[in-house]
Amino acid sequence: MTKTSLALPDTRVAVAGDWHGDTWWAKRALDRLDDAAPDVRTVLHVGDLGVGPWPGETARSGHRFGGFVADLDRALDRRGMTLYLTAGNHDNWDALEAAATDDRGLRALGERIRCFPRPYRLSIAGRSFLSLGGAASVDLMRRRPGRDWWFGEQVTEAHAQAVEDDVAARGVVDYWLSHETPGPVPGGRLNHHVRGLAPDIVAYSDHVRSQVTRGWLAARPSVVFHGHHHARYTLEVTGQPSAEDAPTGEPFTCRIEGLGKEGSEYATSTPGYDHPGNVVVLDVETAEVTAIHGA
Ligand SMILES: [Fe+2]
Ligand SMILES: [Fe+2]
Repeated sequence: MTKTSLALPDTRVAVAGDWHGDTWWAKRALDRLDDAAPDVRTVLHVGDLGVGPWPGETARSGHRFGGFVADLDRALDRRGMTLYLTAGNHDNWDALEAAATDDRGLRALGERIRCFPRPYRLSIAGRSFLSLGGAASVDLMRRRPGRDWWFGEQVTEAHAQAVEDDVAARGVVDYWLSHETPGPVPGGRLNHHVRGLAPDIVAYSDHVRSQVTRGWLAARPSVVFHGHHHARYTLEVTGQPSAEDAPTGEPFTCRIEGLGKEGSEYATSTPGYDHPGNVVVLDVETAEVTAIHGA
């Protein structure tokens, strides 16, 4: 069956990240978005949404993807919004990869929640987007495979190759959506995820991130949105494709937009853990980004 790709007419969309199954925060973020940008009905979520089931959750919620997804789906439906997920490492990849895809190749997690496969190209207001989910869990040694850690979190060489093949067939893109950030963002900006980690965990994380970087270098977007590092920042970087990554590629400039995690107000009392800026609105045609106050 030939599948068509997602094409949305919206000129403004929300971009959010890292809700970690926090129903209270998710509903509040949607309310703040509704108040500030009543025209926006599409949320692009860059991962660690909190897709379950998590241990003990299925029995309690009776929902295939856990109670949080069920609650979020109802909250989105009440507001007439739809959420599209670029999944993170704290999303249940076993459940995601077992889900059927619709005629656009999207996995349905509810009436109002869809997840992109890896990679996935879509268009919004005529602009092109590429989504590449996944990231390394740096605390995986404390987690249990299939319970609260999933092998599918890894971005592999096959995923990077698929991006390169897509770009070779259909060209570079305007926007890039990923959970992990591409390589050139200095590690010091994202330090709470890398401080004091064992060398093999750093190597694992670096390898996964290098595959995201490889895809990004091929896709040459003007703007990146990512989560995972729980830090809201904007940074102009230069992409430098190597001969190995992209033989014909010239350097390109790109604006990286990192998003904070849930709880940007109630977590700011924790020293060194100040991460406001969990939801922004993107004007797709101008690439202008506007913060949502209180989210
Ligand atoms: Fe996260
Ligand atoms: Fe993450």
